Amino acid sequence: MEAKVISSGVKYSSLPRNYVRPASDRPNLAEVSDFHNVPLIDMACPDRSLLISQIGDACRDFGFFQVKNHGVSKVAVERMLKVAKEFFDLPVEEKLKLYSDDPSKTMRLSTSFNVKKETVHNWRDYLRLHCYPLETYAPEWPHNPPSFREIVSDYCREVRELGFRLQEAIAESLGLESESIKNVLGEQGQHMAVNYYPPCPEPDLTYGLPAHTDPNALTILLQDLDVAGLQVLKDGKWLSVKPHPNAFVINIGDQLQAVSNGNYKSVWHRAVVNAEKPRLSVASFLCPCNDSVISAPKPLVDATASPPIYRDFTYAEYYAKFWSRNLDQEHCLELFKN
Ligand code: OGA
Ligand code: NI
Repeated sequence: MEAKVISSGVKYSSLPRNYVRPASDRPNLAEVSDFHNVPLIDMACPDRSLLISQIGDACRDFGFFQVKNHGVSKVAVERMLKVAKEFFDLPVEEKLKLYSDDPSKTMRLSTSFNVKKETVHNWRDYLRLHCYPLETYAPEWPHNPPSFREIVSDYCREVRELGFRLQEAIAESLGLESESIKNVLGEQGQHMAVNYYPPCPEPDLTYGLPAHTDPNALTILLQDLDVAGLQVLKDGKWLSVKPHPNAFVINIGDQLQAVSNGNYKSVWHRAVVNAEKPRLSVASFLCPCNDSVISAPKPLVDATASPPIYRDFTYAEYYAKFWSRNLDQEHCLELFKN
């Protein structure tokens, strides 16, 4: 039988064999510490230059940070998490109507990462949605729960605004005009992954998502408040990012690493699972327009002091390359170096 979803209500007493990682590639959960100093940036800070310098430091030193007072309403966040839980609690037959393992589909429920390519699976189901323009994509989203499309549309609109404000601040922190990054990325697409990690009988033997970098420009992650699971690689060590109430986790994707000419890093991260509780996360991805040419703006490129690290490429070319690989191979950007 094809790999199908694991959020089926079935309780597993041991981990099925095709989820077991080789001993050299396991999460070693006992060795992971909490990431205490992950920056928490107040987006409502009245001192713009302070905000910009905090964002610059966070992007340069961590590639990952949290934002609070981010402008996305509490109601939108709470309703998003609630309807996501309701979706994954639907009977499995209902969910399977949306199942597909074809990454080119603009709306699909799937499992693991790339089931057709991988040999070991990941303990994750996910609903993957294209979200921009909403008028085009929202009609094809799940009709059950009935409120899903309205709630997720509201959430997407608010998150998109936050993403743009962050991209403006990130541009300024690089010494660029505030619109310059958005100009490189063109009319940006927006995707969402609603990730659901059921309780796992043997969390030490597998991943929810193995180590990867995000191929897009900027990721805005909403984590389930009850259960930790996100881990970030910092100075060669995996650190766990505890969910913070009222904050999003922001990470720089591969495209911002390229646009910043390598000044800001698209950092390796992964999701681990746990034995007791299901975990939910909602990742919103801002993606360059398919035919935008990814290239660092002139002020960041100096023929002698800081030559361009990457060759110019279109996002369409990058994205095709990303999905043709396994997640935990070398950084995909390595393939685009000059
Ligand atoms: C992702 C991701 C982490 C998480 O969807 O790209 O990194 O905590 N998710 O679910
Ligand atoms: Ni990710």
